[in-house]
Amino acid sequence: MCGIVGYIGEKNAVEIIMSGLHRLEYRGYDSAGVAVIHNGAMACVKSLGKLVALDAKLEENTLAGRIGIGHTRWATHGAPSERNSHPHFDGPMEIAVVHNGIIENFQELREQLKSEGAEFRSDTDTETIAHLVRKYYTGDLFAAVKRALADVEGAYAIGVIAQDHPDLLVAARHGSPLIVGLGAGEAFIASDVPAIMKYTKDVLYVEDGHVCAITRDGCRVEDLHGNPVAVTPSHVDWDEAAAEKEGYPHFMLKEIHQQPDVIRNTLRGRVEEGSDAVSFPDMNIAEEELEACQKIVIVACGTAWHAGMVGKYLIERFAQVDVELDLSSEYRYRDPAVPPNTIMIPVSQSGETADTLEAIRVAKRKGARVAAIVNVVGSSVARESHGVIYQQAGPEIGVASTKAYTSQCTALALFTIWLAQIRAQMTKDEAQGMIAQLRELPDKMQWILDHQEDIVRCANDPKYRDAQSALYLGRSYNFPSALEGALKLKEISYIHAEGYAAGEMKHGPIALVTEQLPVVCVAVQGDTYEKMVSNIQEIRARNGTVLSIATVGDDRIRAHSDDVLYVPACPEPFSPILVALPVQLLAYYIAANRGCDVDQPRNLAKSVTVE
Ligand code: G6P
Repeated sequence: MCGIVGYIGEKNAVEIIMSGLHRLEYRGYDSAGVAVIHNGAMACVKSLGKLVALDAKLEENTLAGRIGIGHTRWATHGAPSERNSHPHFDGPMEIAVVHNGIIENFQELREQLKSEGAEFRSDTDTETIAHLVRKYYTGDLFAAVKRALADVEGAYAIGVIAQDHPDLLVAARHGSPLIVGLGAGEAFIASDVPAIMKYTKDVLYVEDGHVCAITRDGCRVEDLHGNPVAVTPSHVDWDEAAAEKEGYPHFMLKEIHQQPDVIRNTLRGRVEEGSDAVSFPDMNIAEEELEACQKIVIVACGTAWHAGMVGKYLIERFAQVDVELDLSSEYRYRDPAVPPNTIMIPVSQSGETADTLEAIRVAKRKGARVAAIVNVVGSSVARESHGVIYQQAGPEIGVASTKAYTSQCTALALFTIWLAQIRAQMTKDEAQGMIAQLRELPDKMQWILDHQEDIVRCANDPKYRDAQSALYLGRSYNFPSALEGALKLKEISYIHAEGYAAGEMKHGPIALVTEQLPVVCVAVQGDTYEKMVSNIQEIRARNGTVLSIATVGDDRIRAHSDDVLYVPACPEPFSPILVALPVQLLAYYIAANRGCDVDQPRNLAKSVTVE
């Protein structure tokens, strides 16, 4: 998704903007640009492709200025190209705009503006904003932006500068992420905190419908009607190093290795040592509501949806509540039945996924209470939900989600223990036992991270590394592990992979089995172990290649498998949290061996803020 960075202050704006844009690369983009005002004139440089291309152009064409805006674009309207990259301008090229989101009525606005004489230079929806601001500009940029936005329908986060106003940066938000960073004698705008945390940790989360007049001395906020809005900045406690790779070749590998700490963090503050009590301070859903709850709806996208599936299995088994799991993009359009006493649990790392936000709105309109599991504090999902369980996983930069997934599963496990006790489905002793098992997971994860040799060896083995496609099978709690394993492999290595419930194998995928098809079988100890062994034998009988994921000590499975990756013993309901690691690492090393851009896979975005 697009990334925005803007600066006003006394330093070199271009340097600060470019450093911020580099920190937002994880969001995915296809072109980039920067505009500054220098000696009373607007200047701009744009480039197709990665930021290194823009860096090179900037070296030739030295831009300077103390105020500017920059952008990385992920194409929505108009192909990726230099002319469609941002910033976009009004007719005389005196007003520059960067935008993240989609203007839904842009065709209508474009025709209207054209009929009034505007000449468009790009195919983008964004350019309409620049021409609209010009249309309403009578010497007051802040007023013109507010007036222009009143004509706009859709989602936006924007940054605007004008040649006549070298001391003003205007920003606004409706439905797309935007923050303002406040420093001493300087201020910033950005799509996300890592872009600016090198410079300041005092951040204002801009709300929908708010417009900001930003100067070197601070930020004044109004709504679109010009009513002043009182705002309080937050102090972010992520340190700069948290957003760096810390010596790993990729963010993804770093984030895989962070998982033992991440799980400790997710548990932190929720369970006291030696206690059976779980508490969620921000949850904001009364125990009576949980007791009365008839149905839980979990909505999410991508990896978060797989975590949601683990949550469904856990909640139904231990709390005995009916759980409906849906993809947010399906839920929002299918006019779902929402009976009284329904609780929705959206699961989202970024908290900005457009479909998940809309699914929340649908459920709220129909009377559901919404308690979200979210990583990014202050994100849109967090703010639009009645209550939140923060994952406390720290920033996730790699596009392919890893630590966010295991932390979502852990948060859902904790929620299950809490709910099951409230609904008298679990005794204090049982709860204490389960909490103790959750607490053991970080050390078990560390064991997997300390024993990666077999994973590395398999990822170097041509039968896996050079495969055209792969199948992942799992049952029960590890059906989502199969889905997640296949997703990881396909998104970063571009090997076609499918995850299947192993019980469905005979209903289709078995037709694909040949020596050339690696089948990753999750066969950890538990209720479905014997069934998995039968599946494995059926694959081997057809000359399929089997890579099993099994429990340490299970030597029997070796006889049935080409290779085995081990995870420590753990109760089956929590095993997906461990199984995630070998499937993540296998995908990572295969992708790295194939020379793929692991952290920014082709065509993918970290945060899907448009449909
Ligand atoms: C994108 C990301 C995935 C993520 C999904 C949902 O597809 O690449 O890693 O799982 O969005 O994102 P969310 O932020 O809502 O968890």
